Amino acid sequence: MALRPVLLAALLLLLVACQEQTDTSLPDSLNPQTGRWYSEEQVQAGEQLFLENCAVCHGQQAQGLVANWRQRLDDGSLPPPPLNGTAHAWHHPLSVLLQVINDGGVALGGKMPGFAETLDEDEKRAVIAWFQSFWSEQIYGQWLQMGGTN
Ligand code: HEC
Repeated sequence: MALRPVLLAALLLLLVACQEQTDTSLPDSLNPQTGRWYSEEQVQAGEQLFLENCAVCHGQQAQGLVANWRQRLDDGSLPPPPLNGTAHAWHHPLSVLLQVINDGGVALGGKMPGFAETLDEDEKRAVIAWFQSFWSEQIYGQWLQMGGTN
């Protein structure tokens, strides 16, 4: 049967395509110098993107805008938390951080808009790299231990 090899080839192609998808979605190695998953180029690219898209709510240095980010506002929503390692962004692995950036919080009664259509995958990653560059070694280490790059 001549069909068989064609089918097999198609199946293999599909498998390779899926593999590539997972490979690009999460980092597979840490920078040996810094122990971080991102490069200095990503941090630099992330700064401008953060200032344009996120700083209005999360602050120019990702420090948040209100002292008490745990306290709900009058409308019951939460203020934007700092993303610089002093709040709880480090409790979330990369996959969840990406999900928050994609979906925002509006559907959950929050105020953050989703960026799924506004930023591409590299840009989302760069923005995360930038705010993670503020995380202390200790916080970043704990994040890694909890499986942060998953
Ligand atoms: C309009 C204001 C606003 C903008 C713009 C905004 N955010 Fe948010 N963000 C929030 C608020 C408010 C929350 C808390 C959850 C909610 O209300 O949706 C939040 C939560 C988050 C969280 C979860 C933090 C945690 O500790 O769980 C992350 C990560 C985040 N934002 C990243 C970003 C990034 C990256 C951008 C830019 C691409 C951005 N946000 C833009 C308001 C904003």
